[in-house]
Amino acid sequence: MKTLRVNLPRPSVSYDIHIGFGILDRGVFMIARSGWGRDYTVVSDERVFHHHGRRLMGLLADMGLAAQSVTFPPGEASKTVETALAVARALAAQGADRSSALIALGGGVVGDLTGFVAAVYMRGIPYIQVPTTLMAQVDSAVGGKTAVDEGGAKNILGVFHQPKAVIIDLELLETLPPREFVNGLAEIVKYGIIEEPDLLDLLEANRKALEDRDRDFMTTVVSRSCRIKKGIVEIDEEERGVRRVLNFGHTVGHAVEAASGYVIPHGEAVAMGMAAAAGLSERLGHLPREDRERIVRCLTSLGLPVALPAGVETEAVMEAMKRDKKKEGERINFVLLKRPGMPFINGGVPPALVREVLEEGRS
Ligand SMILES: NC(=O)c1ccc[n+]([C@@H]2O[C@H](COP(=O)([O-])OP(=O)(O)OC[C@H]3O[C@@H](n4cnc5c(N)ncnc54)[C@H](O)[C@@H]3O)[C@@H](O)[C@H]2O)c1
Repeated sequence: MKTLRVNLPRPSVSYDIHIGFGILDRGVFMIARSGWGRDYTVVSDERVFHHHGRRLMGLLADMGLAAQSVTFPPGEASKTVETALAVARALAAQGADRSSALIALGGGVVGDLTGFVAAVYMRGIPYIQVPTTLMAQVDSAVGGKTAVDEGGAKNILGVFHQPKAVIIDLELLETLPPREFVNGLAEIVKYGIIEEPDLLDLLEANRKALEDRDRDFMTTVVSRSCRIKKGIVEIDEEERGVRRVLNFGHTVGHAVEAASGYVIPHGEAVAMGMAAAAGLSERLGHLPREDRERIVRCLTSLGLPVALPAGVETEAVMEAMKRDKKKEGERINFVLLKRPGMPFINGGVPPALVREVLEEGRS
């Protein structure tokens, strides 16, 4: 088992990320030793709970921990204030109080929503992330960003609330459908693009290992991803500066998700957004053409989409971008590239050029 420490300016909110294969029992042992909660509520979606809930509840009981569970339907459509309210009501009905703690068992939807409830329930209770998608293991479970969607805008209600620990058991990915697995690869590609370009070559050269979900290879790429993310979060916990580069591909990506009615999954939408951001970077004279092509090639070779699909109108994406919470007045902040590994923030991209790049991508 590998352990990475997320060292934050306030030492009291620093925490460990544990990564390994078949480590859930050790994770629960650590929870039992920690004293984070007098009792625990496992929050999950119905699909994840069906696969892994009973086992986790059993391990908690074996450790003598009082534990209950709350579930909701899977999917982004559940990441709402209504679901958060339903979870909070269930917690209240179960008698959860300030000495209780939550365990988020699931993908990014479960993690973001559980963190949000933990942040506001009785003005804040502890929570632990047990991510079950590749997306959540390499990205959303780390960093303390919690949120729900509202009114067609992604993550519009949210708060920073760091977990007490992140327990990444790669074995939990065994039940993950292939499309969801590929979805998570998008965020790993993102780390390659913004921070360590050799990751792009590593992914491309090891497609077979990825397909087989090879244990050693998965441990390497998940650990590298978490190390990159934690490094950025440590410098800029609340996204006032450098953390913004983690949004590479997300301006268009979030708009695509919203414009598709959340039918297109986050990672696929971000892949389209990364191709668009690379296209904008090239068109604005920052990024050499061969670097854009390298990015597009890497995404495509991993099975990720790089263009808007037929059912999603360019205008709907442009409209959704106006609701992006990262915009400042009329300016939409884009993360652009000078080169792989050299991102920068640009708030002055003309909408007409964005429209053009999105349209070009379709052909
Ligand atoms: N907080 C952050 O920093 C951050 C970063 C990236 C993404 N996100 C958010 O994460 C969300 C996307 O996360 P996601 O891609 O994990 O989606 P998700 O949570 O909706 O999970 C995808 C699907 O996989 C199923 N699933 C999860 N684990 C499984 C398993 N082990 N076996 C079988 N099925 C399983 C779920 O039931 C769901 O149907 C978005 O809302 C996005 O905004 C947040």
